Amino acid sequence: MTIASPIAPLSTGETDHPVKLTLPELRLRDLRFASPVVLSPMAGITNSAFRRLCAEYGDGLFVCEMVTSRALVERTRESMRIIKHHPAERVRSVQLYGVEPNTVRAAVRMLVEEGRADHIDLNFGCPAPKVTRKGGGSALPWKIDLFQRLLTGAVEEAHAGNVPLTVKVRKGIDDDHLTYIETGKMARDVGVDAIALHARTMNQHYSGHADWKALARFREALPDIPVIGNGDIFSAEDAVEMVEQTGVDGVQIGRGVQGKPWLFGDLEAALNGSPVRYRPTLGDVAGVFRRHADLLIEHFEDEFRGLQDLRKHVAWYFKGYEVGGEVRSGLARVSALDELDDLLAKLDWDAPYPGRAAEGTRGRAGSPKRPHLPQNWLDSRYLNDEHKAMISHAELDISGG
Ligand SMILES: Cc1cc2nc3c(=O)[nH]c(=O)nc-3n(C[C@H](O)[C@H](O)[C@H](O)COP(=O)(O)O)c2cc1C
Repeated sequence: MTIASPIAPLSTGETDHPVKLTLPELRLRDLRFASPVVLSPMAGITNSAFRRLCAEYGDGLFVCEMVTSRALVERTRESMRIIKHHPAERVRSVQLYGVEPNTVRAAVRMLVEEGRADHIDLNFGCPAPKVTRKGGGSALPWKIDLFQRLLTGAVEEAHAGNVPLTVKVRKGIDDDHLTYIETGKMARDVGVDAIALHARTMNQHYSGHADWKALARFREALPDIPVIGNGDIFSAEDAVEMVEQTGVDGVQIGRGVQGKPWLFGDLEAALNGSPVRYRPTLGDVAGVFRRHADLLIEHFEDEFRGLQDLRKHVAWYFKGYEVGGEVRSGLARVSALDELDDLLAKLDWDAPYPGRAAEGTRGRAGSPKRPHLPQNWLDSRYLNDEHKAMISHAELDISGG
């Protein structure tokens, strides 16, 4: 059996109600994106291998996993792996996480002066307790002085090299502590090139629904800067609906592309008013999965490490398909390419697209969580002395490079 010719054409079908979007191209300084579609940064997922795979199906901006500014400045091995791009990647996009303004500034300067990135995004959306407990991620925009100082330095360094700088934020800490409109205006005034809003609060984590009404309010409040909508797009039709309901200039997709890199092809089709959508047979999916394996092995320069990383994608790729318990558990433990090929050969390659069973939500969901914040964080919009002392150490033990 032949497995995985690169970019094998997938089986396609037609949607019942094709809609044509009339979105202008997305411009970030000198960068142009015919499809205003962004692969949302996902730690452990959007490495160079996955970004290349997505780009084989459609145009867009493909953002890397977040990298910690401090680790980058220290040039740790892992941070240098995270920012590594393949020559085939048209735009080298890097997402930085940082809390301490001088460190973030130094990280941006390093990326720009050494020509390591064509686009830089700053992460203010992470809800992980280990991050927010130190005032980082989605906790940070609450502190106006810190946010402003951090952004100002980052924008100055990025623009010195004409590299676009964007930010990604959430709605706020919780419904009583919303920051997004104010944060968006501050970011615009400082000169960022676009803002992505994940329309959830920090304490929602990934639970419930993204608040697309908030996206519409955000768009309206910021008519003079590109706004990218993020949250709960799982199909090209969802993307069309988001644009129609909110007026955003572009869409950003995370969990919806997990195990479904061809979604970028569907999005491009939808943007052009084409009714054609990928409807992969089980054999098509196996082929893409095998290609992902090859790209991961190339990325990690190690067969075992690449396949170890592939394991987390099994459930997403084969969602809704009849795979059988034995193959499924074998794939989840796979450690050699021969073994992978033997397992994939056991599948019924002609099994058709299962329809709804393969669609809908995927990836993280869960329930709301109590915010983990530094002590007295919510008492004021400005840093106190204790917080100032804390942020100077805040990045020391955050993973992400
Ligand atoms: C596994 C995983 C890892 C993520 N890592 C990051 C990250 O490194 N940086 C970031 O800004 N957001 C991160 N996110 C959030 C996503 O970029 C996105 O904002 C969120 O999943 C909502 O979009 P969606 O509904 O399209 O998934 C992550 C999400 C998931 C599920």
